[in-house]
Amino acid sequence: MRTIAITSGKGGVGKTAIAINLGCALSEAGKRVVLFDADLQLANLDVALGIAPVYSLQHVVSGEKSLMEVLTSGPMGMRIVTGGSGITSLMHAGPQRLAKFMSQLDDLADTTDFLLFDTAVSADSGSISGLTLGKSGGLLQLDWVASCNSNDDDYAIYEGTLGGTFDDHASKLCSTGGATSESFSIPNGNVYFVVVPTNPLREGSYGRDGNDAERGPGSGACATQAIGVCQ
Ligand SMILES: Nc1ncnc2c1ncn2[C@@H]1O[C@H](COP(=O)(O)OP(=O)(O)OP(=O)(O)O)[C@@H](O)[C@H]1O
Ligand SMILES: [Mg+2]
Repeated sequence: MRTIAITSGKGGVGKTAIAINLGCALSEAGKRVVLFDADLQLANLDVALGIAPVYSLQHVVSGEKSLMEVLTSGPMGMRIVTGGSGITSLMHAGPQRLAKFMSQLDDLADTTDFLLFDTAVSADSGSISGLTLGKSGGLLQLDWVASCNSNDDDYAIYEGTLGGTFDDHASKLCSTGGATSESFSIPNGNVYFVVVPTNPLREGSYGRDGNDAERGPGSGACATQAIGVCQ
């Protein structure tokens, strides 16, 4: 299964249109496609496709349904996962629920050639948001939105194993040279990544956990943490 995230730093530029049309073209070429609505702000893939599914990602995150059960038929035989507020819930889900979701995504591989994510960008004060993942040619690509703090001029990347307490991340890369994108060889097992904005004096937020508390730095932090205010 090849995973492609359709993303951009700007809204309204045609991400959803490209996701749908790419899905249609791949289906026409005989590929089995799952189109996944991962838009945080306005999950509207269902509206664009003219479908009104009863179940969405929200029901998967809440544990009421499995991912397989919420797949809806779309045009050209594509299967669709609509978002609702599911992605926001997923971002605040604990490690167990996230690990369960990841294993359900893995289960799609038997029946899917292409998994397409229709994404959005957002700017959450004080931390990196809009982090998207794409897999291609043996590489995992991370793209994120630049820090909202104008003093931050670089990023550090941490990696941890899913299933733990979500704070076992260790340093993977202390500088991206200011780039908001980085790629790695695809890791084994279920891992998570944290991208932390940095500047020469400090590193910023690791994001917030399910209780809205700041997630702590793990081992081997690249710099002393001091969370800046957006300016
Ligand atoms: N290639 C294109 N040519 C002309 N209009 C387009 C094209 N692609 C998309 N549009 C139009 O631009 C508008 C925005 O497209 P779309 O919803 O796909 O963007 P988006 O990037 O997904 O937006 P959002 O950031 O809100 O999710 C829609 O009205 C769509 O019909
Ligand atoms: Mg869109």
